[in-house]
Amino acid sequence: MEMMPNLDKNLNEPLFTQLYEYIKGDIEIGRLSPGTQLPSIRNLSNHLNISKNTVDTAYQQLIAEGYIESRPRRGLYVIEYDQQFLILKHSDPGTFEDYKKTEKTNFDYKYDFRMGKVDQDSFPTALWRNLNNQVLFDNDIFSYGSQQGEPELRLELAKYLYQSRGVSCSSTQIIIGGGIQQLLSLLCLIIGFKEKKTIAIENPGYDGARAIFNHHGFQIKDIEVNESGISLSKLRQSDARFVYVTPSHQFPLGNVMPIAARMNLIQWANQVNGYIIEDDYDSEFRYKGKPIPALQGLDTFDRVIYLGTFSKSLLPSIRLGYMVLPKPLLEIYQREFNMYEQTVSKIHQKTLYLFMQRGHWQKHLRKMRSIYQKKNEILCKAIMKQMGNKVNIIGGDSGLHILLEITRVDTEENLIELAKKVKVKVYPTLKYWVQQNQAPNPLILIGFGGMSADEIISGIEKLTKAWFTK
Ligand SMILES: Cc1ncc(COP(=O)(O)O)c(C=O)c1O
Repeated sequence: MEMMPNLDKNLNEPLFTQLYEYIKGDIEIGRLSPGTQLPSIRNLSNHLNISKNTVDTAYQQLIAEGYIESRPRRGLYVIEYDQQFLILKHSDPGTFEDYKKTEKTNFDYKYDFRMGKVDQDSFPTALWRNLNNQVLFDNDIFSYGSQQGEPELRLELAKYLYQSRGVSCSSTQIIIGGGIQQLLSLLCLIIGFKEKKTIAIENPGYDGARAIFNHHGFQIKDIEVNESGISLSKLRQSDARFVYVTPSHQFPLGNVMPIAARMNLIQWANQVNGYIIEDDYDSEFRYKGKPIPALQGLDTFDRVIYLGTFSKSLLPSIRLGYMVLPKPLLEIYQREFNMYEQTVSKIHQKTLYLFMQRGHWQKHLRKMRSIYQKKNEILCKAIMKQMGNKVNIIGGDSGLHILLEITRVDTEENLIELAKKVKVKVYPTLKYWVQQNQAPNPLILIGFGGMSADEIISGIEKLTKAWFTK
C-alpha cells in the first residue's frame, strides 16, 4: 500500500500528529476504505524513514479514536463503518458570507421600522457589565440553576408585577423561560397534558402564538376581535375552554379590553371551567390614559395564566420572559415537568436580579417610558403632518408599534415594495388574519422603538413620497 504523507520536521506539529492527521483524513474521505489493512509499524517506519515510535504513537491515537483496530496476530485494519458516516462528517459548515446570502433580506435599507427592536442608546451597558461581572465572581454559577428560574429573581418579579401590573401571585407561581413563545410551548405541555385541547385565539392575532398551539396539536378556534377585544359571544359559541388574548394591547390592532369585557371573560372562564392565557407583552409602555392593570389581578377564580417578557421593556436579545401559573396548573408543572432544566442563563437571571433589586429596573422603565412616548409623538405628528387624511393611525396609545391604515385601494404588497424603492422597510399585517380577505384597507405595521427621532422623521418623509407622490 502506498502512503505518501508530506511529513515536515520543521513544522511545529510533531511528526506523529502529522502522520495521524494524514491517515485519519484518508479514512474520512474514503481513500482508505473500511477493512483495509495498514502497513506494519516496521514497514511504515522504514518506508517513511521515521522512527517506529512515531508510527506507533500515531497508530495508538487512531486506535483510541476508533478509526482503526488491531486484530490479534493479523495486524491493523481500518474499522468497518457505514459509508454514509463520511457524508455527515464532510458536510460543509459553510461561511458567514454564505449564511448572509441565505438570510431573508440582505437588502440595504436605510430606515427600518422594525417592531422587535428597542432603543439602542439607552440600554445601561456599563452598569449591566458591572453587575454581570459581579455575578461571574459568584460561586453559584458553577452549578445548574433552579428549574423554575432563580428564586431571588422570581421574588423581585412577584413584587414588580404586583406594583406595576396589579398581578397578584407568589414567587412560587412564577416560571422563568426564554421569552413568551418558549413559555407558551411549555404551557401547551402543561395544559395539553394527557389530552390535546381546543384553544380559542384572537383573529387577527399573534402568529407566533398561533404557530405554537398548532405545533402542539391543539385544535384552534379563531375568534374575531372587535373594539373590546375578543368577541365574547363568538367565544361562547366555540367549545373551547382555553383562550389566548392580548387584553392590554391587542396584537396587532392595539385595542384595550374594557373592564366590563374583562370581567365577562373571567366569568366565562369560570363557567366553562377553563383558563385565559393573558399575553401582556408590551403593556409597560402606555402613553395616554391610566395604566391598565392586568386581567390576572381582577381574577378571583384562579383562571388566568399570565405571561410577560423583557423583550420590549429591556432587551429582546436577553431572551427572558415569565409565566404566572394558577395553582392547579402549577401542581401539574411541579409534578410532571420539574425535571426540565431552565432555559435562561443563570448568569443573565442573576444579573437581572441585581438590576431589579438595586432599583435600576424601575429607573430604566421610567426613562424608557418617556423616550418611547416622545418617539411615539414624533412618529404620529410626522404621519399626520405629511400624510394627513390619506391614512389613519391605529393603536398609537401604547407599545412600540402602530398600524397605518392606508385609505385608498391598494395592496400591502405594493405599499411595501414602493417603500423598499426608497430604502424604507415597513411590515405586513395580513399574516395576522386567518382568512386573509378579512383584513380591511391595507394596514402597514410601523415599529419605532429602535429608531432615532431623526430617522423617524426622515423615514416618514421618504414613505410619504413613495406612497403619495405621483
Ligand atoms: C403579542 C406578542 N407576544 C409575545 C411576543 C414575543 O415575546 P418574546 O420575545 O418574549 O417571545 C411578541 C413579539 O413581538 C408579540 O407580539
